[in-house]
Order: sequence, then structure tokens, then C-alpha cells
Amino acid sequence: MTQTPQNTKKLFIKTYGCQMNVYDSDRMADALAPHGYEPVTDMATADLVLLNTCHIREKASEKVFSELGRLKELQAARREDGQDLLIGVAGCVAQAEGEEIARRAPVVDMVFGPQAYHRLPDMVAKAAGSRHLHPALRKPVIDTDFPEEDKFDHLPAPQKEVVIKRGLTAFLTVQEGCDKFCSFCVVPYTRGAEVSRPVRQVLAEARGLVTGGVKEITLLGQNVNAYHGLDEAGKSVGLGQLAYLLAEIEGLERLRYTTSHPRDMDDGLIAAHRDLGILMPYLHLPVQSGSDTMLKAMNRRHTRDDYMRVIDKIKSARSDMALSGDFIVGFPGETDKDFEDTLKIIADVGYASAYSFKYSTRPGTPGANLDGQIEEAVKNERLYRLQALVDAQTTAFHASCVGKTLPVLIERKGRMAGQVGGRSPYLQAVHFEGSTDLIGQILPLEIIGTSTNSLVGKLSQAALNNSDISHDSTRKSVSVDESRVA
Ligand code: 5AD
Ligand code: SF4
Repeated sequence: MTQTPQNTKKLFIKTYGCQMNVYDSDRMADALAPHGYEPVTDMATADLVLLNTCHIREKASEKVFSELGRLKELQAARREDGQDLLIGVAGCVAQAEGEEIARRAPVVDMVFGPQAYHRLPDMVAKAAGSRHLHPALRKPVIDTDFPEEDKFDHLPAPQKEVVIKRGLTAFLTVQEGCDKFCSFCVVPYTRGAEVSRPVRQVLAEARGLVTGGVKEITLLGQNVNAYHGLDEAGKSVGLGQLAYLLAEIEGLERLRYTTSHPRDMDDGLIAAHRDLGILMPYLHLPVQSGSDTMLKAMNRRHTRDDYMRVIDKIKSARSDMALSGDFIVGFPGETDKDFEDTLKIIADVGYASAYSFKYSTRPGTPGANLDGQIEEAVKNERLYRLQALVDAQTTAFHASCVGKTLPVLIERKGRMAGQVGGRSPYLQAVHFEGSTDLIGQILPLEIIGTSTNSLVGKLSQAALNNSDISHDSTRKSVSVDESRVA
């Protein structure tokens, strides 16, 4: 039922949490586009508001309920003007608390989990159809099943004009769910078991993105390096092999992936880092803790030494690999010694950046029932010390880039007039004096300084003339500057 332009309705999606939710929100917009829904940036003007929620952070559901309180007022105001507003809650909070949301917030018309996005147009039609009923008779549409069918087979491919609007970089979900069951984490419950998209589907979506002007793709998955999609012959393909196939797409310049588990960092993927210049030398590889006791309690299924061995292998394959991680402080039972072990592993690895969190219980996860919960004041103090160490490492990493020449994908206007900005291979923001005509190119920039959280670059003629670092040669692993930067 494609609508005429006169019937165009306005869609506002508020996205919480991870990059996978950003990707999912775009897919929801794609699914609704043929039904006349056009994305808008002002919630107050929308006919349909979707909250794409995240359950990883603490108080996630409280944030959703307070947003729903505001939406209730907006809906009442729209009704007074003789208009209407449909409200949907999507994502992991919806998956985990579907019925509870419907009970506590009757203003909601639809509650649906991440596996139901392809059914969104039907849900919207159903919800809109029951608007004329008295509120007491109206029931929200709830869809939190984990269906057998593959939602990706039913979701429309990103539309060319939408892709162009999305710019030079894009996310592409290749894998969903997780079978690891770390004892602190809700993901295996909200996103379900690990599922990989078939190779053909991934390649087709990547080609579509590149045709639309995308130069850099970040492959997404809760456990992305556990990817094992099937190829046309029915053979299982790992993430490393998938990277080789993606590297053949003409026009795709850069490839990233996130988030990885240390146990799935297999030799095939490490070899891809050695062979493919397109695979950026930046790896987000969470370890969560440096203490074997905590790693066991967290059910991470690897030791500190296992992790360090993986880091060594990656560095032997690609010596300029920059590392990033996630850390949890104050997991139940964490002693001062355990925490010191975490500081030690951070010191030993040397991170370019890292995310750190105070442990907070997630109902339904094994961690929630453990004895030895840590006092808030202790968690605060540990988090502070850990972040001070990571901040110092990030600053040192940025400083180590000064004097080097790095290829930068120029993506946007800078904050200051006359400046443009982009990203280094190591995901650092870089800005420099230059024309907006340069946007879309990968150019060698001499790094001449740092500012808070970013690098300052200079377009150097000498560097431009040096064919070793022209971006045409980045299809195979060329050394931009092989010296260790992390
Ligand atoms: N408490 C604190 N941090 C958590 N994370 C996941 N679950 C929890 C929790 N219950 C963190 C982990 C994970 C990141 C995405 O969020 O570090 O890698
Ligand atoms: Fe959660 Fe662990 Fe799976 Fe990561 S690997 S999504 S932390 S259960």
C-alpha cells in the first residue's frame, strides 16, 4: 500500500544505546518509507514516534517511562488540535519488558522487539486501525517473539537516496544475538541466540551502500567476530573470510567491525588484518577485567593470559593496531587486588581508548544473584582511577601520532570556519584547514598537534606526492607508518 505524497506522514525515531540500534532505526525507517512515512528531526511534529531502546545501561527502562510521560502530553496536545500521534517502543527494553510497558504506559500503541522490525508496517496499520476505539477497549500491539523467519529477508534494502543522506560511513549488521552468557549481561536474553546473515545478503547490502556513496562500512554484531554466515555453497564463512570478500568491492575504502569477543579472534580474522589494508587497524576487544577470578565469575570463558596472547598475535599481524576495550568495575566479589589486576592489564595493553562502567545488576542475569555486591563509593573510586589511567593512555596515543602522516577520510565541515574534519584509521577525529570540496576523499594528513579528543592535521603536498600513502594503495596492507602508535 504505497501512499501518495499528500498522505506523507512524519516519523520520529529516538535511538538509545549502541550502534546496532542506530542501524536498526535506519532499517525501521526503510521499512516504513514505502508506506508514506518520512523521517523528521523534530519530535513535536511527528505522527509516529518510535523509541528504540537499549537495556545495557542502568535505569534504561526508567528513562523510557519518563520519555513516555512526555509523549503522553504531546499526544494530548495533538489530539486537541484534531490530530493524532502513534507511539511505539522498540528495542531491548521492549523485548525484556513488553507486557510491563503496555500495563504501565497505556499511551503506547506498539511494543516490539528487535526481531520484529520487518513486521512494523503491519503493526502500524493495526495500531492506527484501533485508534477510533475507546481507550479502555484499545490494546497495544505487542510483538516480542523470536521468529523463525529471517527479518533481514523481509526488510527492504537501504534506499539509495537515504544512503546518500547517511553520508560516507555506514553501519551494516552482519550478526545478531549472543551465546556467550557473560553473567552481567542482558544481551543473550534481549537479542536472543547468535544468528549470522548469509554472505550473499551482506555483500549485496554492502554493494548497495557503496553505490550510494559510502566509503567506510562498520560491520556490526553483538558478537561480530563469531560471525559464521553461509555462502552460496552452504559453507560457513568466518568474519576474516567475509572481510576478504568485502575488500573486493570496488569503491569500498575502509572496513571496521564491532564488538568482538576475545575467544572468537581466530587466525583467519587475524590473517585478514595482516593482508587487507582496507581493514582498519583499530580493534574494540573488551576484556572487562584483568583478574582471572573476576573473569571466571563473569563467565567470560577466557583468562587474562588468553587475552594477552590474542593481543600479541594481532600486533604481530598488524604492528600499528590500536586497541579499545570495555571494563566493568565493582562486579560482585571484586577485591582491591582484583581491581589492581585490571589496572595492570590496562597498563600492559596500552589502549587508544576504552569505555568503563560501574557494575549494575540486570534482573534475570546470573550476576544479579551473586553475593558480595560492592558499595557504590568503592565503585566510584575504582571507576575514577581506571578512567584516569585510560585518559592518560588516550592522550599519550594522540600525542604519539604527532609528526606522522595518516590517511584521513574527510567527512564533514569542521566546527570552525574554513576547517574540515574526518577520521584517522585509528578512529581519531582529525580536523584541518581545508576546503569542503575535499569531503569524500581519503587524504594523507600530517598530524601537527592534538586538542581535546582530536588531532590537528595539515594537508602536506609532500605527503600527497608520496605514492606509498595514496589511498589507492590501501587495498593491500601498506605501511602508512608502521611504527607502533598504541
Ligand atoms: N553493568 C555494567 N556494565 C555492563 N555492561 C554490560 N552489562 C553491564 C552491567 N550489567 C558493559 C560491558 C559491555 C558494555 C557494552 O557494557 O562492559 O562490554
Ligand atoms: Fe553480553 Fe558477553 Fe555476549 Fe558481549 S559476549 S553481548 S558482554 S553476553
